[in-house]
Amino acid sequence: MRKWVKLKAGKSKKVQKFYPLVYRDEVAEVSPSVEDGDLATLLDERGKFLAWGTFSAKSHVAFRVLTLQDEPVDKDFFANRFQKALEQRKHLWEITNAIRLVHAEADFLPGLIVDRYDEFAVIQVRTKGMERLRDLWFEPLLGLLKPRGVYERSDMEGRKEEGLTPFKGLLYGTVPERIEIVEHGLRFLVDVERGLKTGFYLDQRDNRKLVSELVQPGEQFLDLFAYTGAFSVYAATKGAECTAIEQHKHLVELGLEQAKLNGVKVNFRCGNVFEELPKLGSEGQRFDFIVIDPPAIAKSEKQIASLRRAIHRVVSDSLRVLKPGGRMLVCTCVYHMDWSDLIETVRFAASDLNVPLRILAQTTQATDHPIRLHIPESQYLRCLLLQRDW
Ligand SMILES: C[S@@+](CC[C@H](N)C(=O)[O-])C[C@H]1O[C@@H](n2cnc3c(N)ncnc32)[C@H](O)[C@@H]1O
Repeated sequence: MRKWVKLKAGKSKKVQKFYPLVYRDEVAEVSPSVEDGDLATLLDERGKFLAWGTFSAKSHVAFRVLTLQDEPVDKDFFANRFQKALEQRKHLWEITNAIRLVHAEADFLPGLIVDRYDEFAVIQVRTKGMERLRDLWFEPLLGLLKPRGVYERSDMEGRKEEGLTPFKGLLYGTVPERIEIVEHGLRFLVDVERGLKTGFYLDQRDNRKLVSELVQPGEQFLDLFAYTGAFSVYAATKGAECTAIEQHKHLVELGLEQAKLNGVKVNFRCGNVFEELPKLGSEGQRFDFIVIDPPAIAKSEKQIASLRRAIHRVVSDSLRVLKPGGRMLVCTCVYHMDWSDLIETVRFAASDLNVPLRILAQTTQATDHPIRLHIPESQYLRCLLLQRDW
């Protein structure tokens, strides 16, 4: 017998219009047999079929939609989803051998992330539902990618809300300590075990390219919150002199190796941006281009005030070392900080210092991290490219 989750009156329209998450307070009733992580049908208030998806007994998201069709959710279902995701990313193969193949609900697979790095894959399972369906999707994924190895990076805090313990480890085949990938002809090193997220910030691919198109030989380039300095590799290849600040020693070491691999020099400073940046100013260093790419400091709307303060501070300190005519890319990867919020935060910082700025572009995440019109949260990366007038 089918297990089911019934919605309250007036809550079915958003599901029919492609919004895949049902919150706990939107649920009227669940069938007695349905358990945490179960595959179940979603019903409207009259008991009519709406979707297949997974039920969560613990998370604030009670149900995640997999399909609006009344169809079997089996191995073929997942094989088709993966195939479709791969087709939609065909255009990227000319540019890179590293893509995000599955971006959770933005690829109609809530709770699952799959990144492909050359002949290897890294997966992240974020929900109890996807965990319970593992036997249905893992084999089709192997069948499509035929990877030499698969590593799992499900070691994020969010799993706890789902009643899952964080996990990381090898799942299949072998995976080297460092995978070498290519992006726009440049070489990058991915440490899938010790790196952040799944090992590389694929979402910034287009922004790195944009920056490299603007940077000029001999310019002074500053890469803040650098990770392994991928922005710097692009800029240094264009002949810029690069300084990169990153707090983790092992990422700096990887970054140095990565720069060498590309035959360029990046001056890494291992330390806290909030301390190192003012020091650069007092050393008299000035820059033509500054990239500010902080981590997701705030996870929720409530924490946005602290993110705003952090961005205000780092933009202020950056403007103190940005030359007249210089450019600055200010990014935030927190959905809750929208465009107007980001613009206003930068405006306040610039106004305090009497610095006139122009917006040259507003950019977002790379296309293998799809932005679904019907899921506003799917656009999480916002970057402002600015130029200082004088
Ligand atoms: C979003 S990632 C940067 C990604 C990078 N721009 C790229 O394209 O690969 C943010 C980085 O900032 C680093 N970080 C976080 N807080 C920091 C701080 N206060 N000072 C220096 N680095 C910091 C993290 O370790 C992480 O590597």
